[in-house]
Amino acid sequence: MMKDASPQTIHLADYTPFGWTVRDVHLTVKLSPRATRVVARIHFAPRGDAPAQDFFLHGEELTLLRAAIDGAEVTPEITPQGLTCPVPDGPFLWESEVEIAPADNTALEGLYMSNGMYCTQCEAEGFRKITYYPDRPDVMATFTVRIEGDEPVKLSNGNPADSGAGWAEWHDPWPKPAYLFALVAGDLRNHPGSFTTKSGKEVELNIWVRPGDEGKCAFGMEALKKSMTWDEEVYGREYDLDIFNVVAVDDFNMGAMENKGLNIFNSSCVLASPETSTDANFERIEAIIAHEYFHNWTGNRITCRDWFQLCLKEGLTVYRDSQFTSDMRSAEVKRISDVIALRARQFPEDQGPLAHPVRPESFQEINNFYTATVYEKGAEVIGMLKRLVGDEEYYKALDLYFERHDGDAATIEDWIRVFEDATGRDLSQFKRWYSQAGTPRLSVSEDFSEGTYTLTFRQTTPPTPGQPDKAPQVLPIAVGLLNPNGHEVVPTTVLEMTEAEQSFTFEGLSAKPVPSILRGFSAPVVLERDSAPEERAFLLAHDTDAFNRWESSRDLARDCLVAMVTEGAAPDTAWLDGLERVIRDDTLDPAFRALMMGGPTQSETAQVLHERGHVPDPDAIWDAHESLRQAMAERWQDLLPALAEEARVTEAYRPDAAQSGKRALGSAVLALQTRLDGGKAAEAQFASADNMTLQLSALACLVQAGRDEAALRAFHDQWQDDRLVMDKWFALQIAATTPDKAPERTAALTEHPAFDWTNPNRFRSVLGALAMHHTGFHAKDGRGYKLLADWLIKLDAKNPQTTARMCSAFQTWKRYDADRQALMKAQLERIAARPGLSPDTGEMVSRLLS
Ligand code: PHE
Ligand code: ZN
Repeated sequence: MMKDASPQTIHLADYTPFGWTVRDVHLTVKLSPRATRVVARIHFAPRGDAPAQDFFLHGEELTLLRAAIDGAEVTPEITPQGLTCPVPDGPFLWESEVEIAPADNTALEGLYMSNGMYCTQCEAEGFRKITYYPDRPDVMATFTVRIEGDEPVKLSNGNPADSGAGWAEWHDPWPKPAYLFALVAGDLRNHPGSFTTKSGKEVELNIWVRPGDEGKCAFGMEALKKSMTWDEEVYGREYDLDIFNVVAVDDFNMGAMENKGLNIFNSSCVLASPETSTDANFERIEAIIAHEYFHNWTGNRITCRDWFQLCLKEGLTVYRDSQFTSDMRSAEVKRISDVIALRARQFPEDQGPLAHPVRPESFQEINNFYTATVYEKGAEVIGMLKRLVGDEEYYKALDLYFERHDGDAATIEDWIRVFEDATGRDLSQFKRWYSQAGTPRLSVSEDFSEGTYTLTFRQTTPPTPGQPDKAPQVLPIAVGLLNPNGHEVVPTTVLEMTEAEQSFTFEGLSAKPVPSILRGFSAPVVLERDSAPEERAFLLAHDTDAFNRWESSRDLARDCLVAMVTEGAAPDTAWLDGLERVIRDDTLDPAFRALMMGGPTQSETAQVLHERGHVPDPDAIWDAHESLRQAMAERWQDLLPALAEEARVTEAYRPDAAQSGKRALGSAVLALQTRLDGGKAAEAQFASADNMTLQLSALACLVQAGRDEAALRAFHDQWQDDRLVMDKWFALQIAATTPDKAPERTAALTEHPAFDWTNPNRFRSVLGALAMHHTGFHAKDGRGYKLLADWLIKLDAKNPQTTARMCSAFQTWKRYDADRQALMKAQLERIAARPGLSPDTGEMVSRLLS
């Protein structure tokens, strides 16, 4: 069932519309694990405005049983990618019947089975594994779906139309592309709810789960209702069907999917209970529920013309879900967390062999472009746009976008034009954010004379694959100025930088101010500024911008760690003093103080070393982090018990921002305490914990302290029947262990009877945890690399998508020393040489090696 051996590159510039429109689609799906029949009746009509072309329908891994045009049997010509067939000049009815085997579908794309339940995943190009169809997002049609089978619950998109013994029919009145098609059938239980839209329409809500999981739906349901209200209030967007269904599935390649009226979720992204989910899980679930719901307008009502435009729906929807989380929780904490994630996931991508523009211009396998660049940098680009035009103009532009493009399959050009028309701005230079890859470097110099303060900025963007030269981009640089007493004399002002080098002046200042630059991380750049440590300490103490307050401490931490790694320096006590004042300040949000205590991860230190021209040495980084944490613990020995006390939650568990902030502070404290007491406090917390957040943070400390045997056994015995908690059990033992043990522990866990490696969550919880253990993965002798490569090769035969995504573990390989480079390259070459390698993984490995 291999695809064509020679991979084809698809180019944005080659876009041509499909030659026909589809009036409607009628599907009858007769379910059977190894012989599902799909009968399709589709009305096509030629489109006058499309270039002449052969009639081609996508189809992969289908057995065609019969085909007819206007009732007369036809014999199409079939290739591994689809079929062609002579068709009449005018409108016609296409009928086909195919057979597929969902129980054998381990790729989890198309129609597949998970724990006896049927479900589908069609984005991006999965519908072609269900029936022959023009499987492209610009072909939109209404769907009527009849499902036949004994399963008690049978769901598809839109509204329920009719049902009887052994069948159910659904009708979706909104024209949609095939990637939004979904079907679910099985023995499912629902958690019901309802919502009244602002215009008074009643919507039935359901979260469908496996029997036994009913108790884990309430939080997702509340998040859904909050999302529906928020989208009405903030964007004026109402829901548009009588029913909204959410289904939890255990086997799923991604987080969740926005199928029209029938969102399908990885069970890890919707099921929640205090006993089994951490605060971080709750927050993530709330955000993903919102994200998928928001897609109903940004993605479904307005979709993408082609897959190059993916950021049109994803960048915007990520931006919207981040606004939602900021409104539901703390905006400052959300911003800091988003920047941490951007630097951890997107910066390495943008600075290595996988770098690509937010809107790529070519690809082989679209599944490989669901990336941090398209999603997270795509959202940053929208944030910049909003910063440049201002809030009011932003919402004006969005109103125009919905009004003008409702029902369209749109492009980035359409999106930009809406902003130009709504605001009167020329955005042609801004548009480079969509076409130029790479993280811009921004450097600053300053000058003060006679009351005039001048900031001069320089921007350059390093070359990326296929893009040696870069033009200057539009950078919104949010700046505030503080006087030497720590008072803000110039509040946040957005400077609009458009040139490679540009100066901005501030007049009428009585003394040289201290600048707070790139407040709120107003543009996704690397800010290069050699300011004195005293100035950073000053901002840490006085900045009114919470992000930059955090950032100044982070900068000091980075400098400190770089000095420790490269010069064997001791921890910077001046910084630790400044940090201590913030941590002690109980007027500040505990969540913010917990973030301040956290410090850079080891991968971040590696990233910073690389940005500053050093070759990162993972073992030296480990040692530096260890001694820094140890120094913190010893220094704050007397402070920790008081903080632990402050972090204690006495009320009943709630996963809200206030309580989770306290617990975050508590677990940062516990991690330091464990270095002093060898795990005594952690043991006590583990024994008394009545929620997963406390239980897991205690267990992490015990693993770190090497005092974990009994606790791991107890945790296993308590949770062995809960797949999502067991994922945590697997991941934690690797994540929290010492580098020398990480590869061995990973290898041992792959032998564990509960290591069901065909389940993507479980695979990621073990091999993904190894890839994220910086020093463990980069073990000098290469055993971490080899272990991951062994498993990627094994998984590729079953699930190319998840394998290809995980290849990005190697994306930083060129940063390391020659020996490690050679070891990683050898593993990549070994994967590449594998006979029968999937095109997905093949593309990733060849980009990594290029
Ligand atoms: N479109 C989904 C989302 O962003 C992600 C996804 C992509 C899921 C491809 C499955 C397959 O919400
Ligand atoms: Zn999305």
